[in-house]
Amino acid sequence: MSLLDGKMLSKKLKEELTQDVSHFIENHGRAPGLATILVGHDSASAVYIKNKRLSCEKTGITSYHQQFADDIDQQKLIDHINQLNNDPKVDGILLQLPLPIHLNTQKLLNTIDPCKDVDGFHPYNLGKLLKSETAFIPCTPLGILRLLQHYAIELSGKHCVILGRSNIVGKPLAMLLLNNNATVTVCHSKTDNIESYVQQADIVIAAVGKAKLVKEDWIKPGAVVIDVGINRQNDGSLCGDVDYEQTADKASWITPVPGGVGPLTIAMLLQNTVLAAKQQEKIKDRG
Ligand code: GUN
Repeated sequence: MSLLDGKMLSKKLKEELTQDVSHFIENHGRAPGLATILVGHDSASAVYIKNKRLSCEKTGITSYHQQFADDIDQQKLIDHINQLNNDPKVDGILLQLPLPIHLNTQKLLNTIDPCKDVDGFHPYNLGKLLKSETAFIPCTPLGILRLLQHYAIELSGKHCVILGRSNIVGKPLAMLLLNNNATVTVCHSKTDNIESYVQQADIVIAAVGKAKLVKEDWIKPGAVVIDVGINRQNDGSLCGDVDYEQTADKASWITPVPGGVGPLTIAMLLQNTVLAAKQQEKIKDRG
């Protein structure tokens, strides 16, 4: 078994992006800007946002942060997003999910200008992904693809089994893998006999948020195992959706948790933000 080292790859990509950002600043006299929005006091979301902003800072991207109370009014958030849409310093807008249930997540995501949609959650970008056209691609699926490409893991003709059908990971990942010529199966909470699908997988991607769901006898010998889950155990330690200790020896490649997919999600967010900034400057030049 070999490790898919997301932490190392993310470090390398961030170093390259730092160079890219410094050229951008030389050429355009400003840094790329990412606006982050956090609603409420979900502790996991607060940690994610803190890490995303820290990575921006280290790469030279300016981050603008706004925190709102749990009971924020939908219209106030829409007004804030529209303000960011019209702010030339802001190239990317990230609304951290999940949101409190009184808010209409889809409507809020749809308010973000597709040109600043660095999360790739706007229907315009998701539609483009569906059609295999150039688009902002959601950061976790894009990070998974980047990790597989870095380790030269072939996708064409391979059977990828995705566990989880979320709008953030499972569904866009299915499209991305399909666009890269994989054969894709998506399993979810209503799938009967999930292990029978996983047993057929050349590449398994677990993104369900259930600690150690995937067991040793689910894994075909030599399969590639990608674990997107980050679950807190009773003893405070973190574990993935895959039982790492049981499965590692059976897999050809496996991601650790933490240090696998997570760091790449952030690297892809930075990459999308720099891309958005370059595109905004191109539009200005043309205008
Ligand atoms: N919550 C969990 N993952 C993500 C992500 O990639 N983007 C946003 N905006 N929220 C998330």
